[in-house]
Amino acid sequence: MERLDQTRREFVSNLSHEMKTPLNIILAFTEALQDDLAVDENEKKTYLNNIFEETARLKRLITDVLDLEKMEEGYEDFKVDYVDLKLVASFVQGNFSTLVDEKEVKLAFHISRKTPFVWGDEDKIKQVFINLVDNAVRHTPRGGEIVITIAYKADDVLIEIKDSGIGIASEDLPMIWERFYKGDKSRSRTQGGTGLGLAIVKRIIETHGGHISVWSKLGEGTTFRIILPTEKKMLGGAPL
Ligand SMILES: Nc1ncnc2c1ncn2[C@@H]1O[C@H](COP(=O)(O)OP(=O)(O)OP(=O)(O)O)[C@@H](O)[C@H]1O
Ligand SMILES: [Mg+2]
Repeated sequence: MERLDQTRREFVSNLSHEMKTPLNIILAFTEALQDDLAVDENEKKTYLNNIFEETARLKRLITDVLDLEKMEEGYEDFKVDYVDLKLVASFVQGNFSTLVDEKEVKLAFHISRKTPFVWGDEDKIKQVFINLVDNAVRHTPRGGEIVITIAYKADDVLIEIKDSGIGIASEDLPMIWERFYKGDKSRSRTQGGTGLGLAIVKRIIETHGGHISVWSKLGEGTTFRIILPTEKKMLGGAPL
């Protein structure tokens, strides 16, 4: 009970902390607008833009926290169906095309033709890819490459998301799955993270009966490896 209480307190404290900065920014720019501090239309737009961005950040934070809570309480109703990972991959490609161009990194796919379907919630599986590719793109310098591999192995689907980025120090590796854990605290403000992405990924994969692991080396890159049971294996066993 005591440990649960402690976890709860830490969670509330982390969440409040994450909400404080965006709220302060929103307050400051709203006050500036009320006091007519913007010298021209352009500056006014910048202020409004900042308010918009910070409000969007708060909304994402709340959505992420609620999603995680629902999954942890076990009352998330997954919409399960056959999921074609080839379609998910092409969605991911489209989703990141602008960001990848902007950051001047390459996003490549190696998808084996025999890849079977998995049994699960397509939106949640898309979320896994989005969170992992988003991390990869954000931590890979210009000219780097992100490779997504989807292959079939025994009765499992093997997914790898490999980047040639900055890597993660071995002492930090066990912590990355924790809620609100962010590697570089000073940089994360401008980079927009809240440290919930990987906690969500892990929860989604485990709810699908899968497993996720990570390999990383500073200066070389990071590889996330996911094993998901195929539709055949899943339907033979316990459905979601
Ligand atoms: N591919 C990667 N390369 C290097 N570091 C990574 C990579 N993926 C994750 N990390 C490290 O793990 C931390 C936790 O990742 P996570 O996705 O959970 O949070 P975030 O990206 O900081 O915020 P959010 O995903 O909630 O916007 C990151 O802050 C970063 O330090
Ligand atoms: Mg992230």
